[in-house]
Amino acid sequence: MPGTCVIGLQWGDEAKGKLVDLLTLDHDLVVRYQGGANAGHTVVAGENTYKLSLIPSGILTPSVRCVIAGGVVINPPACLQEIDGLVSRGIRVADNLLISDRAHVIFPWHMAEDRSLDESTSDGENIGTTQRGIGPCYRDKVGRSYAIRLGDLYRNDIGQRIEHVVTAKNRVIASMHGGEQAEPLDAKTICADYLGYAERLKPYVADSTALLLDAVDADQRILFEGAQGALLDVDHGTFPYVTSSNSSGVGVSSGSGVPGRFIDKVLGVVKAYCTRVGGGPFPTEQSNDIGQRLRDRGNEYGTVTKRPRRCGWFDAVAARYTARLSGVDSLAVMLLDVLSGMDELSICTAYEIDGQRTTNFPSHVDDLRRAVPVFETVPGWQAEITAARSIDDLPDAARGYLDRISELVGRPVEVVSVGPDREQTIFASRAAHTS
Ligand code: GDP
Ligand code: IMO
Ligand code: MG
Repeated sequence: MPGTCVIGLQWGDEAKGKLVDLLTLDHDLVVRYQGGANAGHTVVAGENTYKLSLIPSGILTPSVRCVIAGGVVINPPACLQEIDGLVSRGIRVADNLLISDRAHVIFPWHMAEDRSLDESTSDGENIGTTQRGIGPCYRDKVGRSYAIRLGDLYRNDIGQRIEHVVTAKNRVIASMHGGEQAEPLDAKTICADYLGYAERLKPYVADSTALLLDAVDADQRILFEGAQGALLDVDHGTFPYVTSSNSSGVGVSSGSGVPGRFIDKVLGVVKAYCTRVGGGPFPTEQSNDIGQRLRDRGNEYGTVTKRPRRCGWFDAVAARYTARLSGVDSLAVMLLDVLSGMDELSICTAYEIDGQRTTNFPSHVDDLRRAVPVFETVPGWQAEITAARSIDDLPDAARGYLDRISELVGRPVEVVSVGPDREQTIFASRAAHTS
């Protein structure tokens, strides 16, 4: 069974949505397996732009079944709003979306905790979360006592469960406000609201693990859509400036229930440069005209929160680390067109930490903060490349840039994106081209 994964190798927003939409036609199922409405995946189809958050980016292809698996944290009103938005634009959702009954539910207390707690980490900088309740919901999942899963909303004791949690959460929220009286949550109102959402979501809710394991047995082709990027992975990313799930390739099995041995291809998605939203170290960041130019040309503003994204040069140390961590077979290099018009480009090939040169990605954020990037400068190109449809249409310098990235990361380039539209894509293995 060909199971293919699309994994972001940087700090998110690598254009995974565009790639997933393009690859969907070759698959029977498209699966989101971690994260939640912190994700914002853009698909541009001709005149239409779709911003997908919880719903897999395969939804625009009617023949494909889309699955939100148990590892995702789901905000029911946000999910319903997204479904309604798609339906109002003529996208069929009714019979091709399935949501796991194991998915943990985001409640108003998670949003309140996210807003209050995202002040600073122990080293003083804000994580800068998307404030979608993601971290608090995953925390309750791991803590178990106050967790509620989607399937629980259909059980008789849900009213008591919500009341039990609300009593505890009101104490937590009051203490977070430093003793000041915060508006207490009302269990009855929340229960009524969530039962209403549950009723509307009912046609979609099922045991996605069983469905996916059956799909494996039936040799169906599954496309796994990663959210965020591997450097935001809670275990292997730039902790604590990460999200609260396994957003590198290691999360596919735990989030979906499909064993790793059924995954036979991993596509690692990178931007041709780097961006990051929120706090945390970013060694190749350019807080100068170069960063501003990348932001302007790449329209680098958050899909979910509209925050300006921090921008910098391509970091091959980080991408090599995350490509290995995620078991990447080949690379998709996106937004290459953004680099047109620059005389020279820089690529980070190593870090210097306390005078020591290394190509290893540090495990501790303090070491990463002290990492001074070692840049290699390569020639840029002036021509716009948005009309290129084959590798041979690209200027020599652009081909040289791709080759150098491929060499440093240690993986062939299979896809190159030269614009947001579906058509602005080159499917070509650089390995094949150069051989
Ligand atoms: P995702 O979260 O990884 O799906 O990425 P986002 O959708 O948050 O951000 C990627 C942005 O880049 C979106 O606005 C896309 O429409 C846009 N995009 C995708 N590919 C290209 C490309 O090759 N060139 C340009 N200029 N924009 C692109
Ligand atoms: P997609 O799927 C970029 C970042 C936030 C913050 C950190 C933790 O569109 O690539 P969270 O709300 O998850 O607790 O925030 O992670 N972040 C993302 N950055 N793209 C995303 O998703 C992100 N999802 C979370 O900015 O720094
Ligand atoms: Mg995004």
